Amino acid sequence: MTFPRLDTVRQTIRQMQGYIPGEQPQDKRYIKLNSNENPYPPSPQVIAALQQAIGEDLRLYPDPVANRLRDKAAAMYGLSREQILVGNGSDDLLTMLMRTFVGPGDRVAFPVPTYSLYGILVAMQDGKVVRVPFLADFSLPPQLAEVEAKLTILCHPNAPSGTLTPLHRVEELAQRVRGILVIDEAYVDFADETALPLLHKYPHAVILRTLSKSFSLAGMRIGLAFGHPDLIAELMKVKDSYNVSRLSSVAAVAALEDYAWMRQNVNKIRATRTRLSAALRELGYFVYDSQANFVLARQQGVIQEPMYHGLKERGLLVRYFSSPELADCLRISVGTDEEIDRLIAAMEELRRNA
Ligand SMILES: Cc1ncc(COP(=O)(O)O)c(C=O)c1O
Repeated sequence: MTFPRLDTVRQTIRQMQGYIPGEQPQDKRYIKLNSNENPYPPSPQVIAALQQAIGEDLRLYPDPVANRLRDKAAAMYGLSREQILVGNGSDDLLTMLMRTFVGPGDRVAFPVPTYSLYGILVAMQDGKVVRVPFLADFSLPPQLAEVEAKLTILCHPNAPSGTLTPLHRVEELAQRVRGILVIDEAYVDFADETALPLLHKYPHAVILRTLSKSFSLAGMRIGLAFGHPDLIAELMKVKDSYNVSRLSSVAAVAALEDYAWMRQNVNKIRATRTRLSAALRELGYFVYDSQANFVLARQQGVIQEPMYHGLKERGLLVRYFSSPELADCLRISVGTDEEIDRLIAAMEELRRNA
């Protein structure tokens, strides 16, 4: 085989490791509590709408801007079509934000630890990542607003901690930042409050939502960005032409139409989250107060890799991060009550035999 000319790869790309997503085993042997997916299926109306759409015009390109979905989301969230952009998951929207705002050397700031994709997307643009550590209780570091950043990103609720920055603190941040404030609300349906009302007051704020979590549609890849029409128009310029498939937008419209289904599942998950947090505390973990569909459990100074492997051997996948600041933690997605009972039983057994 001829040697590929790797020296022609951009240095930035050659040197970076690339994002490592959570394990997605395709053999279905595991109870998956590692990617913050919803343990409940999407609305039956989504399945019915998809079955009908499969019989229709798959040979034709989809609407490049997914206007049916934009209109549905606009009506639901009290916005106009022009304030909404649809993405192939919210990861796609993050990419568009980076392409639009971040050139070589431009600063992007966010509090850490948080969703690790942010830093990787900045690196791809040759931008400069400014990581500002959260305070020990995951409250906002005051220096965050002092970074002269093109983009400041707040994950709300934060991953992997599950903690939520109170709305008045988000507003203070909006008042203080110089550039654009991106509020990533991937998990906000599981929380007590949203930053959506800020959009009307702060034209430099962008809110990201996803249907992957609360609407049980991770497999369909649908994200929504909300922002000022002028800002959305700029983002539109850098999107892939047909970034949302026909089936995805059909599924998303049907999912938004059955909002009650989503709320019912969210309520079940919130109840299980309370049980899970209590059970982990009984086991001796410190558990951050979660407003998301996962919890972060810490056993101060005790590396959790053996626990992660022990659980995996027993068919239970959770998320372990090897980075020094999180190595004594496990991030556990909230599954069904039965899945959580099995997890806790396995953790108790592993603790007894440790
Ligand atoms: C904080 C955060 N933002 C965005 C995403 C991306 O979600 P999706 O691309 O499925 O919409 C995730 C996925 O895990 C996430 O944790």
